[in-house]
Amino acid sequence: MKISVPREPLEVDLDAIDLFDPELYASGDPHPLWKALRQRAPIHRQTLRDGRFFWSVTKYDDANDVLRDHTRFTSQRGTLLCILGQDDPASGKMMAATDPPRHGAMREPLMKMLSHRSLNERKPQIRRIVHRLLAPLADGATWDIAEAGANFPMAFTGTLMGLPEADWPRLTRLTTMAIAPDDSEFQEGSSRATLAASHHELFEYFSDEVHRRDGSRDRDLIDFLIRMEAGGERLRHDEIVYNCYSLLLGANVTTPHAIATTVQAFIEHPGEYRRLLERPALVPSAVEEGLRWASPANHFMRYAVRDLTLRGVSIQRGDALAVWLGSANRDEDAFPDPYRFDVGRTPNRHIAFGFGPHYCIGAPLARIALNLLFEEIVRVVEAFEGRGPAVHLKSNFVAGLKHLPVAARLRAGAAELLESA
Ligand code: HEM
Repeated sequence: MKISVPREPLEVDLDAIDLFDPELYASGDPHPLWKALRQRAPIHRQTLRDGRFFWSVTKYDDANDVLRDHTRFTSQRGTLLCILGQDDPASGKMMAATDPPRHGAMREPLMKMLSHRSLNERKPQIRRIVHRLLAPLADGATWDIAEAGANFPMAFTGTLMGLPEADWPRLTRLTTMAIAPDDSEFQEGSSRATLAASHHELFEYFSDEVHRRDGSRDRDLIDFLIRMEAGGERLRHDEIVYNCYSLLLGANVTTPHAIATTVQAFIEHPGEYRRLLERPALVPSAVEEGLRWASPANHFMRYAVRDLTLRGVSIQRGDALAVWLGSANRDEDAFPDPYRFDVGRTPNRHIAFGFGPHYCIGAPLARIALNLLFEEIVRVVEAFEGRGPAVHLKSNFVAGLKHLPVAARLRAGAAELLESA
């Protein structure tokens, strides 16, 4: 998805806005549209050609309000626009499509497993993966960081879930097919066939993986899901499979875009990268700014539980609402100078990981991986240079880059460091 600074005056016809169209995020630019909506229609109804409709929520406070309050806005019918109007088959089985209190019963044990503290021991392993990822920079050739980054999460979720390395490339592709079935680079047949094939293969893969284990092992995240209890009972087979799918998807389709988009921002704002070189202690805040800037999860959806009013607009029971995280993270009422990429931004209360009960359970893992990656980048890279056009993913769910060819000018001694890694 293009990241632009909208120019005033904004000449946007609100009735013509189509935030559903995946092509908008591949070749268009949603930023002027989001800004116009925040100014003129912060709760905006869009009707699709087939009559289905949803409300777009574009302001930060409203986004938080909708994501936080499951008593008014349910996740139980599904949370992605691609299934607008159909009930999610994972309802009540997969954490992301389950409301409290059942949601909390599933989430609490997993949260311990995925906490910052319990993941700390995985840092050396993740650092090794980071070195492997950055190794191609050593020879100064053009390197597609978006393509390379796509495989990065699988290297830590694959080991966390105990999945054989030979399966990782296919799993990476399947997760992208699931979130961008309209993107020709990932299509296997029509959009519908691509989506169906990715779901079928992923569910079958995890179902077999769960069957293969007898429940006596306690080595990885899948073993943990098999053995854990939610509300005093073990999860059923389909619940385990849905949550494996969700954990893999959650990690694979978002983290790479935070990496590529942050590097793209360094190329476009070289002064901010120099700031980071001078003060590597800014890496954690640069990571947060990269997350706000990229907002890789573009939207999440909820349904209204009852008739209600939101910012003076009447919403009927059963209406769908899409919260646009990329817009909320550029809201001028929440972020001073929101279109400035500022590696030292404080405070930075972005909602790239969502808000409320469904706040990303993988956030500690993503933060550890991104911090280790950018710590290493700062150690070895003097400056990045763009080497070709950025190519954007065709998806209304994930705002991301498929290709970003770059080259790096290395710091003194960095080539040896990369080669020895
Ligand atoms: C930069 C990386 C990531 C971003 C931007 C991101 C974004 C998000 C967002 C916005 C939500 C909230 C969904 C909602 O409100 O309905 C979420 C939930 C979730 N994420 Fe992430 N995520 C990232 C990394 C990860 C990783 C590494 C994992 C797996 C380890 C993961 C697994 C999940 C799961 C399972 C949920 C559902 C949680 C629940 O319903 O309680 N995510 N993520």
